[in-house]
Amino acid sequence: MLTEARAKNAAMHITGHLLYTKEVFVQCIEGPPESIESLWQCLQKDTRHHDIELLARGPVDQRKFNDWRMAFSSYPSLNRYNMPGFFPVDESGMTQAAAQCAAV
Ligand SMILES: Cc1cc2nc3c(=O)[nH]c(=O)nc-3n(C[C@H](O)[C@H](O)[C@H](O)COP(=O)(O)O)c2cc1C
Repeated sequence: MLTEARAKNAAMHITGHLLYTKEVFVQCIEGPPESIESLWQCLQKDTRHHDIELLARGPVDQRKFNDWRMAFSSYPSLNRYNMPGFFPVDESGMTQAAAQCAAV
């Protein structure tokens, strides 16, 4: 899923971060407004999601995740393939990248 999402994000000039802990995904996406709107529509239609919720949306001066088509923070055990852009969460369930996302 992440590989496909990253390819599509690259084509749409989207960057961001995905956090997965306690069976909940929290995602931060950045990019041109039309790309954001298109992805948001796709995410809402994706039947793998339940109770999808928009927490905040608005313009930013600069991207926080310029280097990542979708950085991913989660439990170290999920990094089976040593994937680039993976950040293992600490005991509190956070990473530096995830904290950046929270500071919107
Ligand atoms: C937790 C989660 C995060 C996702 N993040 C992205 C993403 O960043 N970019 C993306 O293109 N698709 C993402 N997807 C997949 C989309 O929901 C959707 O399947 C994909 O955009 C293909 O949509 P399409 O077939 O309508 O083009 C994510 C799916 C899940 C479950």
